[in-house]
Amino acid sequence: MRIMVRVELLAVIATCLTVVVARSSPQPSKIQELFTNVEPRYSDDIFEDANLDVPALIRKYRYPVEIHTVITEDGYILEMHRIPHGRDANNVPNQKKPVVFVMHGLLCSSADFVLMGPGSGLGYILAEEGFDVWMGNARGNYYSRRHVTLNPDAILSTAFWKFSYDEIGNKDLPAMIDYVLEATGEKRLHYVGHSQGTTSFFVMGAMRPEYNDKIISMHALAPVAYMAHNRNLLLNAIAPFSNNIESIAYLVGIGEFMPHTIIFTWAGEAMCRDEVVFQPICSNILFLIGGWNENQHNATMMPVIFGHTPAGSSVRQLAHYGQGIADKGFRRYDYGSALANYREYKVFKPPSYDLSKVTTPVFLHYSDSDPLAHVQDVDRLFSELGRAIGKFRVPESTFSHIDYMYGINAKELVYDRVINLIKSMNIYGFDDYV
Ligand SMILES: *[C@@H]1O[C@H](CO)[C@@H](O)[C@H](O)[C@H]1NC(C)=O
Repeated sequence: MRIMVRVELLAVIATCLTVVVARSSPQPSKIQELFTNVEPRYSDDIFEDANLDVPALIRKYRYPVEIHTVITEDGYILEMHRIPHGRDANNVPNQKKPVVFVMHGLLCSSADFVLMGPGSGLGYILAEEGFDVWMGNARGNYYSRRHVTLNPDAILSTAFWKFSYDEIGNKDLPAMIDYVLEATGEKRLHYVGHSQGTTSFFVMGAMRPEYNDKIISMHALAPVAYMAHNRNLLLNAIAPFSNNIESIAYLVGIGEFMPHTIIFTWAGEAMCRDEVVFQPICSNILFLIGGWNENQHNATMMPVIFGHTPAGSSVRQLAHYGQGIADKGFRRYDYGSALANYREYKVFKPPSYDLSKVTTPVFLHYSDSDPLAHVQDVDRLFSELGRAIGKFRVPESTFSHIDYMYGINAKELVYDRVINLIKSMNIYGFDDYV
């Protein structure tokens, strides 16, 4: 009970501290410097990168970027970020390229695929490899905190926040995929998701099966569907209370969990930078959420990470994951009572997602030490998916959940393999991939 209250408190504090501060644009002199200097693989200015938003960050490193707005069938306004081509290679504008759609995890955003910088961020690497890169943002995060009628900051109503990864998979992904196919004139695209970016994909494949044909291949980094063996402390602590958490949160008018606030940026800069005694505490907070792995951790980059993450989610997203841990299944959201579930689903217990309907060719990339995507849960997912093609264990046993985004060797250990698989889809006879 005490743990639950503490989680609540965290949500209260995070929500109360929302401060909107205009983000600065890069200095022209800085950009000039970049032209003349050797290109950095990571960040050339930790504090600047912590404060720039995704489009400004991409522009700063001289990559092309486009901002696109997508409206879902239920009125959420989502922001997508596109890197249409590379900077050093495959850099001819307006050339037709295969599309890769990249989708972030819980509390994350498109920032997680660029904040580690050129040469390390998946977004940049894919662009250099000749892909047209589209990065989604799920409803409720920093970039998609808008709705045609509902107000995310409404004092008396949490209507905006009544969604979980069910709606993200059911409504956000189809809307964004249709938009991308329309904008590029392509018929199909490749999908790379991390964590919740995989959960929501499996939801879509099961509930909107017509979308399976729009995906050439799906690459699940740290796949999360079943969570029976979850070892994440925070989620395990809330699992038994996952329905209460939401009722209490709604009672006090909170539907949002850990929104992006400038406080995280400030704290990250003040406490997490190099040569500050608190830096190990920052590392520990990160690992409490994402799993411990010293090998892949670049502590210097922490201010940039905390400048962009957490990027916000709904309380219900967290509660839905908690339910999956408690229930050991992969089901739709539990409304808390048989009657309420009946109203939604016409059955008393939330229906399971039918994974056999996910007929997209799926490749799972997982690791031994990931607390949120346990090997046994991944095995079960693999055996139940309609068309699971490959299962790849990251060849480093300590590789963990957040390393898929921030790991020092993520490129060598994961991305290179994903890119090889994408490029070889035609060889396996799945598509006339060009
Ligand atoms: C960590 O990040 C810093 C800052 O971007 C970079 O200079 C350094 O090379 C990185 N360290 C490792 C081990 O990758």
